[in-house]
Amino acid sequence: MTEMVRKTNAFEIINHWVLAISFFILAISGYGFLFQLEEMNSIFGSFNQMRVIHNWVGVVFAASLFLTLFSYIVEALSVSADDIGWIIRGGGYFSKKAKVPPQGKLNTGQKLYYLVALLTGIAIAAFGFVIWLMPGVKKWILISHLVHNISFDLMVIAIPLHIYLATLANPGTFRIMVYGTVPLEWARKRHEKWLREMGKI
Ligand code: HEM
Repeated sequence: MTEMVRKTNAFEIINHWVLAISFFILAISGYGFLFQLEEMNSIFGSFNQMRVIHNWVGVVFAASLFLTLFSYIVEALSVSADDIGWIIRGGGYFSKKAKVPPQGKLNTGQKLYYLVALLTGIAIAAFGFVIWLMPGVKKWILISHLVHNISFDLMVIAIPLHIYLATLANPGTFRIMVYGTVPLEWARKRHEKWLREMGKI
């Protein structure tokens, strides 16, 4: 039988789904505001209701993002020569011959993605709350809309790339989001250093 290793626990699986679903609701309703899409009324009830849903789902997104700190921040900030090697070799994505240095629980690209998602998420949430809770303060509102929208644009670029890398580009990765486990041989190819740290190989 295939030997499996656990990469993600139940709490992390549920939190990732909360993060992903809340992000999509925020993105759809956000586009509704940006382009004044009346069609969205059939999804959210009314324009006003879409605003209420957007604000409160924003609270869920911010809380879920905060909880990711317990799972990823220590790993994401641990940098070694292997990370530099990963970057120099483009993570092995540009040549079949490229020999990528052994990686920990997250590879360098995943660490960078996590930090981008965290920083843009913090900016979106913080300035979103200013727009929601301080509507009378004009100079804050202008800058808040700008930062809220630019950080959202960065996420709209990063997240489809993340979804592609976590599904089609790396078969076998999506099961982490469902079961939390991966075959030992799959992990040996991608996260050898992590398996060594755990004494699995
Ligand atoms: C349906 C869409 C999504 C899919 C299929 C997906 C898939 C995955 C998978 C399979 C992992 C585990 C990777 C591993 O441990 O090797 C992961 C991790 C992660 N996901 Fe997602 N994800 C989605 C949406 C999102 C969204 C919207 C966000 C952020 C707003 C997000 C943030 C993260 C973060 C921060 C990690 C940990 C770092 C990493 O592994 O890259 N994901 N995702």
